[in-house]
Amino acid sequence: MERVSELQMQKCMKRREISAAAAAAAVGAEESAKRPCDRTWHSGRDGGDSAIRSIKDYCRDRKLPDDMYRPVAGRCGGGGGKFRLADLVDELHRVFAEDRVNVEYVQYLMESYRSDPAEWLKYAKFNKFRYTRNLVDAGNGKFNLMVLCWGEGDGSSIHDHPGSDCVMKILAGQLTEVRFAWPDDAAPDHDLQLQPMRELSRTVLETDGICHINDSMGLHRVENASHTDKAVSLHLYCPPFEECATFNQQTGHKTVAKSTFWSIHGEKVSKKRLEEHVPDDN
Ligand code: SIN
Repeated sequence: MERVSELQMQKCMKRREISAAAAAAAVGAEESAKRPCDRTWHSGRDGGDSAIRSIKDYCRDRKLPDDMYRPVAGRCGGGGGKFRLADLVDELHRVFAEDRVNVEYVQYLMESYRSDPAEWLKYAKFNKFRYTRNLVDAGNGKFNLMVLCWGEGDGSSIHDHPGSDCVMKILAGQLTEVRFAWPDDAAPDHDLQLQPMRELSRTVLETDGICHINDSMGLHRVENASHTDKAVSLHLYCPPFEECATFNQQTGHKTVAKSTFWSIHGEKVSKKRLEEHVPDDN
């Protein structure tokens, strides 16, 4: 799994912490970051001890304000302390209801959820021609949580994430995330250049692995390189977006593409509604 550099994280935290109120809160946050984080967490076979330790270390290492953290444990009543998909959704709602959102904590939540097919199977709807996007939760307009279903060999186009952070987690199978540098818009005669796009990295993500990207980190595409196995992933976009730019790998040429859902809350979207927006990828 790729880690986000300190600079990239600062950039995305900066974007999230913009208001004057946030500036005032940041002073308080700095103070509280000096205090040890006493968040509790119940999960795992050891009665939660290692999970509690890991979240304490996580808070301390990153000097994260503990006012961001309220026990997830209280929301994990059923299932023997397990952090379920429904708990993830609840906690995302709580986090995104606040003025400031810590993207790193959101990543941590996505990482904490352990894939359980019984919880996401109702969203996993495949199409034999292309990957599908299935909306799990629209996050009060603050985020979209989606299950994406990838048939053998399916892949997305190289795309951006306009003003948004994307955290992706593998629920089943294996996916490859390929990252690219932005084409050089500033180059003279940019449109005539036909320059292949520069690949920055290629990461194979296994089940439960996550990655995070926003526009300051480049562009990416995702592919299921397997010709025998399907794959399923969970994507969080915050804020959500309906359009993004896709790029031709050989030329860097940009096109605007609309995003559509194959199903919403487990119900297949009607053919008529889908035809109104045929996505321009894959
Ligand atoms: C991805 O490749 O990250 C998924 C793109 C999408 O949201 O359709």
